Amino acid sequence: MEKGDILKIKNITKHFGGVKAVDGVSFSVRERQIKALVGPNGAGKTTLFNIVTGLYKADSGEVIFKGKNLFSYKPYELINLGISRTFQNIQLVDALTVKENIALGLHSKIKSNPVSVILGLNKGHEKGVFEKVERVCRFLKIEDYLYKYPNQIPFGIKRLVEIARALVSEPELLLLDEPAAGLNEDETELLLKSIFRIWERGISILLIEHDMEFVTNCSHSIVVMDSGKKIAEGLPSEVMNDYRVIKAYMGE
Ligand SMILES: Nc1ncnc2c1ncn2[C@@H]1O[C@H](COP(=O)(O)OP(=O)(O)OP(=O)(O)O)[C@@H](O)[C@H]1O
Ligand SMILES: [Mg+2]
Repeated sequence: MEKGDILKIKNITKHFGGVKAVDGVSFSVRERQIKALVGPNGAGKTTLFNIVTGLYKADSGEVIFKGKNLFSYKPYELINLGISRTFQNIQLVDALTVKENIALGLHSKIKSNPVSVILGLNKGHEKGVFEKVERVCRFLKIEDYLYKYPNQIPFGIKRLVEIARALVSEPELLLLDEPAAGLNEDETELLLKSIFRIWERGISILLIEHDMEFVTNCSHSIVVMDSGKKIAEGLPSEVMNDYRVIKAYMGE
C-alpha cells in the first residue's frame, strides 16, 4: 500500500448474468482527498460502491482500507472501521423524525439496540447519541429541521440529512452516491459548501457524480468509468480534455 492511500480498489470485476458491470477497475483515494467517480448511466459506479461497502460480492479483486481487506468485514462493521456512505436514492425512514433518522447512522456504534434508544427506552445511551446528532446538525446547518419528518422538508435538506446520518459516526472516509442529483442551483451551492467543510475536518471523500461541472468544482482527482471500465483518471482539467471521456459523454 502506497503511503497516503486510505482506500485502494484493486482490479475489481463484477458480472450480473451476461453484463460486466465492473471490469477490472483499480484506483486509490488518498488521505484528505476529494475523489470523484464519474461516468454515464450504467457505467458501474454504484455497483463499485456496493462492492466497496460489502453489499455486493466482487467476482475478483480486492479493496483495502487503511491496510485492511474490506472483504473480510460485514457491511455493518464498516462504520466501526471508519467508512460510511449515502445512497443514490434517498433512504430516509418516513415514520421517524430527522433527529431519529440521523441517529440510525450510529447503529453499530451503540451497544444497546438502536431502536430502543430511538424510542426512548434507554435513557442512558440516548443522551450521548442525540448530543452527537445535534452536533452534526449544527455543523451542516440543518438544526432547524431536527423534529420534522422527511415529508415536511425540502429535497435539498433531505440530502443533507442523509449526509448527516453518514457523518454522525465520525468516519474517516465518506462515500456519497450522486449527492447533487435532483438539486436546484441554490441547493447545489449549499451542498458544495458542505462538502468542503466536511473535507476541512480531515475526512476523505469519494463521490459519484453524473455532472462533470459539479465535480470539476469540487474534486482533487477524477476517475471516469464507461461500460464497467475505468477510461481515465487524473486532475479535473486533464480528464475534461481526454478524448475518451468526451466520447463517452457525447454518446449519451
Ligand atoms: N443488482 C443488479 N442486478 C442486475 N444488474 C445490475 C444490478 N445492479 C446494477 N446492474 C447493472 O450493472 C450495470 C451498472 O449499473 P450501476 O448501477 O452500477 O451504474 P451507475 O454507473 O451507477 O449508473 P447511474 O449513473 O445510472 O446510477 C448496469 O448495466 C446495470 O443494469
Ligand atoms: Mg448509480
